[in-house]
Amino acid sequence: MQASEESELSRRGLLVGATATAAVLTGPAAVAQPAAPAPSPITPPGGPSLTKVSLTVNGTARDLDLDTRTTLLDALREHLHLTGSKKGCDHGQCGACTVMVEGRRIYSCLTLAVMHEGDSITTIEGLGTPDQLHPMQAAFVKHDGYQCGYCTPGQICSSVAMLREIEAGIPSHVSADLNAPAQLTPEELRERMSGNICRCGAYSNIVDAITEVAGRQA
Ligand code: FES
Ligand code: FES
Repeated sequence: MQASEESELSRRGLLVGATATAAVLTGPAAVAQPAAPAPSPITPPGGPSLTKVSLTVNGTARDLDLDTRTTLLDALREHLHLTGSKKGCDHGQCGACTVMVEGRRIYSCLTLAVMHEGDSITTIEGLGTPDQLHPMQAAFVKHDGYQCGYCTPGQICSSVAMLREIEAGIPSHVSADLNAPAQLTPEELRERMSGNICRCGAYSNIVDAITEVAGRQA
């Protein structure tokens, strides 16, 4: 064997040996790491996908061009500038974003706007006006049912829809008799409003306000 061939073989041997050693030292997972980071699943390759969405918001027809990932809450706040509905957690945990869709209360942060094509949405702005408050708004003012007020739009939308649920005979987890009309006890109201958190702890005044309106409706 020629000296140059010997030297070529020993170089190859050295490279093979070095690669094997590196694989043992770093492990198969490290060797298998992709060179470039995976593309973010949040950004579709072709950019955002827009679609037309028609809603009736507080009695007015609204046509929007929205990214299909837009939540109902963001459509209301960012696109229609109805900032009464609040973003507390954006995760369905606080109730600050509660609005009514077709008369039923819903966390608007947990639903996409495109899912409500043609639906009728009522936000706090659609319940009353500063000059002519909705009875529930007036009762919250009268009973001091808030401190900072951040949860209040959601509390009020939720309580208006909640009283309709009672009227419709829908029982709650604490209703003693599922077939009898619900009693408007503080326990019943607290249970039914348990999806709306108030960090200021205005709960007893909120229950007083709802009880007054419920009493008037009864
Ligand atoms: Fe929707 Fe908190 S912002 S539940
Ligand atoms: Fe402040 Fe309810 S009034 S969070």
